[in-house]
Amino acid sequence: MQKIAVIGAGLMGTGIAQTVAQAGLDVVLCDVDIAIANKAKARIEKQLGRLVEKEKIAAADAQAALGRIVTIADYAPMADADLVIEAATEREEIKRKIFAAVGDVLSADAILASNTSSIPITRMAAGSPDPTRFIGVHFFNPVPVMKLVEVIPGLATSAATIEKVKAFAAQIGKTVVEAGDEPGFVVNRILVPMLNEAAFVLGDGTGNVVDIDRGCRLGLNHPMGPLELADFIGLDTCLEIVNVLFESTGDPKYRPAPILRKYVEAGWLGRKSGRGFYDYSGPEPVPTR
Ligand code: 3HC
Repeated sequence: MQKIAVIGAGLMGTGIAQTVAQAGLDVVLCDVDIAIANKAKARIEKQLGRLVEKEKIAAADAQAALGRIVTIADYAPMADADLVIEAATEREEIKRKIFAAVGDVLSADAILASNTSSIPITRMAAGSPDPTRFIGVHFFNPVPVMKLVEVIPGLATSAATIEKVKAFAAQIGKTVVEAGDEPGFVVNRILVPMLNEAAFVLGDGTGNVVDIDRGCRLGLNHPMGPLELADFIGLDTCLEIVNVLFESTGDPKYRPAPILRKYVEAGWLGRKSGRGFYDYSGPEPVPTR
């Protein structure tokens, strides 16, 4: 592949754009507001600058990667993209509008992919320009660091689309796991119930924030404890995924922990809001319980 379009310049879209540009492909990074897309590009410049400082990449390569990223606020420049990756807000009606609009410019053999973490691919494919060329590609945060891409074919996704997307993942240095189009796919189906269980353990007083996170870091060799990781992902995102698991399966084992629901209701969403299981207002995160 030569040219990739990324729709949505939030955390994930920005990370995807950086990774793709560093791999030598051209990227158009799109958001509804060009100022948001430009801010994302400035964040990428900063990240690349850090990598240069740490002598992980050469200054010329950082400049070249940045030069491959063009920010846009309309869909016309996606007409010659080989792959369009939607990484917009996790709301189905927003995504559906995007797919319809992309359909007006998408070339005859281009692929449309969604980075959704929880919405069924087959259902979204049905509202896309061509379900045979629609697929899930689920990246992990922080995208430039995490090696995995989950590839999720929908019922109608063609074998050619699957192969092309797997080749793209390899091209940008990622390893693929193919997952069925079931709630949570593979990784979040396993991860999110663990994060939810950590919230139960906190809520019922079995452990405090420090001990739960230390226990999993030192006892399981996880790079972050589950509460730290939930704050990093965003407690609203964690709750949304656990709700999808609960509602779509009806299985009570996925019921959300009351404390997780309450924190989200309070606007305590983790790092992004300044407070979650930790308080991020000072120089170091402080456990809240
Ligand atoms: N962008 C680019 N690089 C980054 C980065 C970012 N946002 N954050 C960290 N890095 C790089 C650093 O530059 C550093 O690189 P180096 O080793 O080559 O110098 C390396 O990552 C390690 O970073 P730090 O030394 O600053 O910090 P840590 O060693 O504490 O690692 C971490 C940070 C990589 C985030 C690590 O704690 C980790 O792996 N945590 C778990 C992350 C995880 O599980 N992510 C998946 C979440 S689930 C998901 O995304 C799915 C969704 O659907 C919910």
